[in-house]
Amino acid sequence: MTVNFDDALMKIDEKGFLDIEIDPSLDLFEEIEKLKREKNAVILAHYYQEPDIQDIADYIGDSLGLAQKAAKTEADIIVFAGVHFMAETAKILNPAKKVLLPDLKAGCSLSDSCPPPLFKAFKDKHPDHIVISYINCSAGIKALSDIICTSSNARAIVESLPADQKIIFAPDKNLGGYINKVSGRDMLLWNGACMVHEIFSLEKITRLKERHPEAKLVAHPECEEAVLKIADFIGSTTQLLKYTEKDKSQSFIVATEAGILHQMQKNAPHKTFIAAPPDNACACNDCPHMKLNTLEKLYLCMKYEQPEILMDEELRIAARKPIDKMLELSEILGLGG
Ligand code: 13P
Ligand code: SF4
Repeated sequence: MTVNFDDALMKIDEKGFLDIEIDPSLDLFEEIEKLKREKNAVILAHYYQEPDIQDIADYIGDSLGLAQKAAKTEADIIVFAGVHFMAETAKILNPAKKVLLPDLKAGCSLSDSCPPPLFKAFKDKHPDHIVISYINCSAGIKALSDIICTSSNARAIVESLPADQKIIFAPDKNLGGYINKVSGRDMLLWNGACMVHEIFSLEKITRLKERHPEAKLVAHPECEEAVLKIADFIGSTTQLLKYTEKDKSQSFIVATEAGILHQMQKNAPHKTFIAAPPDNACACNDCPHMKLNTLEKLYLCMKYEQPEILMDEELRIAARKPIDKMLELSEILGLGG
């Protein structure tokens, strides 16, 4: 392990994080709280983060809620406990702030499934279409888009447009297909998907439902159509959380990344939450990108203010326009994360 800060800084691009030894006697929760106060820093975390990170965060939310918070925060430093496109969105929206990501390699398979040069060629073939992109994409894709959406506002945004408006939806074919189905639209879909949500096994979920007939199946719209078809409720992470808290059922099978079970259980301690099983030998449905962030990396990035999200200004301005459009529409439509 590297101990020296300069050595660690030199290796940050290769490793993705500051690899510096931490005094094992430190109470990281206390240290992080101290750093928050000293540096006027705010920790924004997604529900897929490990429980310790969720517990120390100032705000936990879905992609829309996190973007809204990042745009409005008055903290000097935004520590983003999530993946790269989320921290990048925070920087796009609030460029005067220092935005830190505990591990720069915390990417997203869905975002990676849509490289900007290929998408540009696809878009150029359909000049009469506007582009709505799911926020899980790079700044390069955002800059090629007209409106950004998240899983909590995608349907409302699409339905707010004239019925004859031709639309390309990128990059998630599952979310796009779901919106087509519920809104009766025929959007052209980019063929991208999330590795975590695509892996749920319909067969195993069906067996689980048979064993727990009283349990309701809640699913994120990034899941495949076959899983969505048998779901009792479909929504963004925040919407799933609210549903499981308010619904009178006592048990739920949860088809999204397992990190959210922590908040579900905290919000409704007497209820039972079962993670939907994936189609592989291990019983894990963790996002390997989200889970690259750890409490140790969070502490180091706050202490040394690295790794930092830096962006080309021209790209940032181009990527901001469709996000602003989403935030404006969300305001008009009364949508929050
Ligand atoms: P939401 O939290 O916006 O539902 O997004 C889920 C997700 O996959 C984030 O990467
Ligand atoms: Fe990307 Fe899927 Fe991980 Fe979300 S869960 S960050 S969409 S790979």
